[in-house]
Amino acid sequence: MNFELTEEQLTVQKAARDFAQTELLPGVIERDTEQKFPAEQIKKMGELGFLGMMTDPKYNGGGMDTISYVLAMEEISKIDASASVCMSVNNSLVCWGLERFGTEEQKEKYLKKLATGESIGAFCLSEPEAGSDATSQRTTAEDKGDYYLLNGTKNWITNGKSASVYLVIAQTHPEKRHKGINALIVERGMPGFVVGKKEDKMGIRGSDTHSLMFTDVKVPKANRIGEDGFGFTFAMTTLNGGRIGIASQALGIASGAYELAVKYAKERKAFGKHLSEHQAIQFKLADMATKINAARLLVWQAAHLKDQKKDFVKAAAMAKLFASQIAQEVTTEAVQIHGGYGYVKEFHVERLMRDAKITQIYEGTTEIQKMVISRELLK
Ligand code: CAA
Repeated sequence: MNFELTEEQLTVQKAARDFAQTELLPGVIERDTEQKFPAEQIKKMGELGFLGMMTDPKYNGGGMDTISYVLAMEEISKIDASASVCMSVNNSLVCWGLERFGTEEQKEKYLKKLATGESIGAFCLSEPEAGSDATSQRTTAEDKGDYYLLNGTKNWITNGKSASVYLVIAQTHPEKRHKGINALIVERGMPGFVVGKKEDKMGIRGSDTHSLMFTDVKVPKANRIGEDGFGFTFAMTTLNGGRIGIASQALGIASGAYELAVKYAKERKAFGKHLSEHQAIQFKLADMATKINAARLLVWQAAHLKDQKKDFVKAAAMAKLFASQIAQEVTTEAVQIHGGYGYVKEFHVERLMRDAKITQIYEGTTEIQKMVISRELLK
């Protein structure tokens, strides 16, 4: 196994780092405070190719490998996790899901715009009463011949308002349970589709998280992804890949907080010497760096397996489980090292600590990752 990054991967990493510093850092505190979606910045990310990184160039994507994608995700997440969740959902749930399972017409019509950020995508699985228990879908897609009649509510949808293409999971044959579920492409503006309230969140406050309501929305049959009843497998398979994106987001949040802590420890003096000269702080930094490195290896392993077209289900769940856990620990220690300054917004680490929490919840909670891992181990 080769741990050296290629020239191309290093170029992507640097481009993402430069973009995060010059375009995302200014205003990130204000966007967090005001819960403002980084619309202009996301548009630029699309133009630079960060929203369809792994998509085939014939659908306007970057044709890059998953390693390049996680490198970029880490750099963007160090600075702005609200921008990186939009990037993760668009790349790994929406573009990847459509490219792998969509029809040629769907790819022409939707994927080409999603891969450049001309359209933003949303992935709509969670419901008021179906979060972790995703098979219990209440949203219905009634088969009406050449269209589906969509009714129901989706909750906590990332890119809820900024998206124009929504992949909606809904039940068509309740008697078949998860084998009766379909995945439909729903467009913003279809009659009966309403974007509901925006959530007032603890972290990733710049991302627009909304509930969505569907009342008798007519969705053409041509917008179904895969065969009748394929929707749950679509959602699960897509989420396996999505978890690599969220794992790299957690990794980026942790490494961003660590870098700030190192910088602060070298600048700040206490008891006549820099914090970095105190063993209490040195040991904290050593623990933080070791955890980050271990998480990075898990993320890269999952990405590598996906690129090799090998089974990456367990590796992706392990990467997300571990990276999201250490993101909690590392960001909390980064705040601790900053002392009183760490508790105020200006120093960024309190935001990273708040942002870290969601990585243990979305795209499968910590407990769901443990279910996925143990099932893979024992099957
Ligand atoms: N990959 C592929 N298929 C999978 C799978 C996986 N990781 N996990 C389960 N499946 C398949 C099973 O093989 C089974 O199919 P068959 O019957 O054809 O074999 C089917 O799914 C149902 O599985 P189970 O019988 O194991 O069902 P369960 O109810 O016991 O468990 C679950 C299912 C794994 C817990 C699933 O409900 C789950 O993953 N829940 C978490 C949902 C989630 O991650 N939500 C995130 C929302 S999206 C989001 O957050 C995006 C965002 O905006 C940031």
